[in-house]
Amino acid sequence: MSGQALGSYPTTRLRRSRAADWRRRLVRESVLTPNDLVLPLFVIEGSGVREPVASLPGVARLSIDEAVKTAKEAHGLGIPALALFPVVEPALKDDVGTDALNPDNLVCRAVKAMKAAVPDIGIICDVALDPYTTHGHDGLIIDGDVANDPTVDVLTRQALLLAEAGCDVVAPSDMMDGRIGAIRKALEGAGNVNTMILSYAVKYASSFYGPFRDAVGSKGALGVKGKHTYQMDFGNVDEALREAAFDVAEGADLIMVKPGMPYLDVIAAVKAQVNVPVLAYQVSGEYAMIAVSAAAGAFDKAAAFHESLVGFKRAGASAILTYAALDVARALTGRAS
Ligand code: PBG
Repeated sequence: MSGQALGSYPTTRLRRSRAADWRRRLVRESVLTPNDLVLPLFVIEGSGVREPVASLPGVARLSIDEAVKTAKEAHGLGIPALALFPVVEPALKDDVGTDALNPDNLVCRAVKAMKAAVPDIGIICDVALDPYTTHGHDGLIIDGDVANDPTVDVLTRQALLLAEAGCDVVAPSDMMDGRIGAIRKALEGAGNVNTMILSYAVKYASSFYGPFRDAVGSKGALGVKGKHTYQMDFGNVDEALREAAFDVAEGADLIMVKPGMPYLDVIAAVKAQVNVPVLAYQVSGEYAMIAVSAAAGAFDKAAAFHESLVGFKRAGASAILTYAALDVARALTGRAS
């Protein structure tokens, strides 16, 4: 409280500044606008396909043509960027994620279609192997665990491929050590000097990714170890600061903290330490908690999402990835769906 004028009642009545809508708007510290939102999209093969995800009410897997329509709407609502996640056909998966390096794979085609139809919306793509591997892990398994350095080599090639396809922001979500430096060096080497790196620097091993794994079919056979040998232990904050500092030093433009709502303290701590924008991910399980509760009549969905997202802003997030981005932007701009 240093430097604060501490009044005392009744000289100070804190309710004065809450007594009318205009007063509340005048003194509001954190606000949410469509500029703060990133919309994740699940992309699937086919055309005219909108396939609902059972565990994510209101979210569908979209074929590229449908995804393009949604991208246009998102752009019209002022949402600056989309994050694309491919739903890879089971027949294309193998234990080394071969299709991740296919220049004509689903996500590369989706990026090209988006950039052609809606060039002014930013396209973010995950860099990780989990949608492409039969086992659902983010990297190559050698001797029973995800092997760091061989995985970094593959991810670097994947990131280059995505950049070549036109992706604006590559987002390594794999938690390997050293991948940001390797990817930055490769991008520079290939002349992709404007490709941004959004590092999922602080990604915890979390239960809240469950519906996402349903959506992309990456549950596979993660096994008892889950992803605990590479994603972070959720008891730790010091380690989050080290992860963020490393990735900034290695060339990340943006840092991600994930999940979001149970980790607002981590967002605030990382933001206090690094001088790059911090993004946060309101992940699938968090979305489901709110959407399912609202459907059960517990509270108003739009109001609950808005409140949860302002919480991210208060914690220091520059932007939030949320499956509710379209609904929230519609509400903010006063446009019906
Ligand atoms: C994969 C990835 C995951 C998410 C984003 N990228 C899942 C995982 O690590 O298993 C989760 C997003 C969500 O739950 O909404 N690297």
